[in-house]
Amino acid sequence: MLKVTVDGVEVFVEKGSTVLQACEAVGVEIPRFCYHERLSIAGNCRMCLVEIEKTPKPVASCAMPTMNGMKIFTDTPLVKKAREAVLEFLLLNHPLDCPICDQGGECDLQDQALAFGSDRTRYFETKRGVEDKNCGPLIKTIMTRCIHCTRCVRFATEVAGVEDLGTTGRGRETEIGTYVEKVFGSELSGNVIDLCPVGALTSKPYAFMARPWELRSTESIDISDSVGSNIRIDSRGTEILRILPRFNESVNEEWISDKARFGYDGLRYQRLDTPHIRQYVYEDGKKVSKLCEASWEEAFQKIRYAMESCDRWQVGGIVGDLVDSESAFAFKDFFQRLGSPNVSCEEESFLSDNLPSTYSFNSTIAALEEADLVLLVGVNTRYEAAMVNTRLRKRYLEGCVSIGSIGPVQDLTYPVEHLGFGTKTLYNIASGRHPFCKRLAQASNPIIICGSSVFGNNGEYNSNISLNNNLLSSLKANIPNLITPSWSGFSVLSKNCNDVGLRDIGLSSWSKAPTFASEPERIKVLYLLGADEIDPYKDTYDFPYSQEPLDTFIIYQGHHMDRNASSADVILPGLAFTEKRALYMNTEGRPQETNPVFKGRTLMREAWKILRALSEVIPFMEPLPYDTQDELRSKLYGSSPSFVSKGSVQRTTSFEGVVENLPDYFAYNRHSGLGSIVIPDFYMTNAITRNSKVMAECSATYGNRSNFLKNPKPWVMKNLKK
Ligand code: SF4
Ligand code: SF4
Ligand code: FES
Repeated sequence: MLKVTVDGVEVFVEKGSTVLQACEAVGVEIPRFCYHERLSIAGNCRMCLVEIEKTPKPVASCAMPTMNGMKIFTDTPLVKKAREAVLEFLLLNHPLDCPICDQGGECDLQDQALAFGSDRTRYFETKRGVEDKNCGPLIKTIMTRCIHCTRCVRFATEVAGVEDLGTTGRGRETEIGTYVEKVFGSELSGNVIDLCPVGALTSKPYAFMARPWELRSTESIDISDSVGSNIRIDSRGTEILRILPRFNESVNEEWISDKARFGYDGLRYQRLDTPHIRQYVYEDGKKVSKLCEASWEEAFQKIRYAMESCDRWQVGGIVGDLVDSESAFAFKDFFQRLGSPNVSCEEESFLSDNLPSTYSFNSTIAALEEADLVLLVGVNTRYEAAMVNTRLRKRYLEGCVSIGSIGPVQDLTYPVEHLGFGTKTLYNIASGRHPFCKRLAQASNPIIICGSSVFGNNGEYNSNISLNNNLLSSLKANIPNLITPSWSGFSVLSKNCNDVGLRDIGLSSWSKAPTFASEPERIKVLYLLGADEIDPYKDTYDFPYSQEPLDTFIIYQGHHMDRNASSADVILPGLAFTEKRALYMNTEGRPQETNPVFKGRTLMREAWKILRALSEVIPFMEPLPYDTQDELRSKLYGSSPSFVSKGSVQRTTSFEGVVENLPDYFAYNRHSGLGSIVIPDFYMTNAITRNSKVMAECSATYGNRSNFLKNPKPWVMKNLKK
């Protein structure tokens, strides 16, 4: 520790700390533009000048390391004059168009000019103008406002890992841009809007929408992937106007993906706001079936009639990807009380349902920074969880780490050693024959990250592997440090926001539910709770989509008129995650809560309330025993204690008992591909983003780059089979 004095106050700081950090340690705030804790130091704006004893000139505090006995002064006439001069230079060419600037009210330049600047100008020449750049559908540029702090350039190069932004020219001719005209090609691009201290880079979808003081902020979490990034939702009235990241060091640090930031406009379109029932009507003399608006009573009576006309076990239920934990718990409870075992989630997987460590990201996201060797198995971290990929890139930049991958060749923004395409390579590694296994065995903190779909039936690639003793004990035997009392290096990266929560509640893959698995055609009533990724005809009944089985009655409960709602017989309108308080468990097993930004439209209801009301109508079942969300939560906590620890991860990372009676696909299917990553589009992955105009524009702009595969064509297994 070093002892320094800031404005006469003594403080001890760690060796290597900067003068700016020492000032912060005693609570003295230093103005800055270019400095950012998570980016490299540029030292180019000079706004952070301070005076140091025995130095002839003011010193840039963000770039000067502390030395023992250093005496720092932040409030002297010299410092004040230096700050005033820096601001005068910055404002020489600044347009000062605050009334029409989207940064107004939250602009560092505005605030610092007010606090430290002069109220006079001495510059009466013509100001320079800089041409705006087209960075794509998300970022609006007014480059005349740029003060060349290079935060955006450093973010792009260091965090996002793309070399798209840079500086050209010198002195008065300096410009920030993309060198040649092209879009900023990163899934994290929106973060430069937060980083830009002025209004040079602002949000295109938010342009001229509101001033910050008109907005109401609600703390929530993102549900576009399994990370559960912490977000702040800014709204005015009943309209969400923007989403910003919220700081959480363990989850998303202070970044979010573009999908989390800009997908919110999907909540405005194609909403289900009233119950519907399918009716036969005559149109132009022809009898056609049509979804017509109905009252809740009519919809419930139709469901009651359908359920009464079949056996209880012939009622099946599938929970969708965006469903929160309370609703899923109530859904499972509903089926238990109804007397049907056919309740499940739509993700198909061979992962064990009994042992949380076999489907969780056990190492935790933050611990990726401690890894010294990483193996990615059938996972595209950039696509599936952008924040996990950001951590891996951060770890790569720190050095002394190798990252290998099995699966298609991908562009993950850091060098990856491609080891092979399919299960054969994994088999060789697990059995100790592959050279990479020797490196894993020597690593102190090895991590293996498997994509959840590696353990699923991927149809096209059929890469089913069951996480059974055969695979895990081979890995454990050959990689001694993989799972130790203090390190859990085997992680499964789940795909959706609440996959881990659904499994903790006890909902497993639909293909494991008894009737779905053996005689799906005997399901007479199919209740889809926001299930849009599954095709109820093709996936469960194995019929082509056009040949709809006429006698299956489909109930769709959800918030969007997405894939499955249009083929339903009854539609019950629910609330989206921004309209309710609900628990979601991220891939690590960290329960987190959303908060309502506003109440949904008049007839929309929380899913569990709909189920509670419906249970009163069905004559042969006991009504659900909770009238408030707190009562429901206490039942949920009783049945799945993992939900109690809101915000933190408290779960077993033990793999004892992984013995499964599952078929050993790994042994028999050694030559199949880990082709989980046939990804159509990063920007459109769920009911909300599929209905977002902004995401549709991104998808059109980035084209086949939106799957981050180096070779955008699906990987072909033929070559391997030869
Ligand atoms: Fe005003 Fe700041 Fe916008 Fe410049 S960047 S015009 S100072 S609000
Ligand atoms: Fe800094 Fe903004 Fe200019 Fe980038 S665009 S250099 S973040 S002022
Ligand atoms: Fe120190 Fe910019 S913040 S030079």
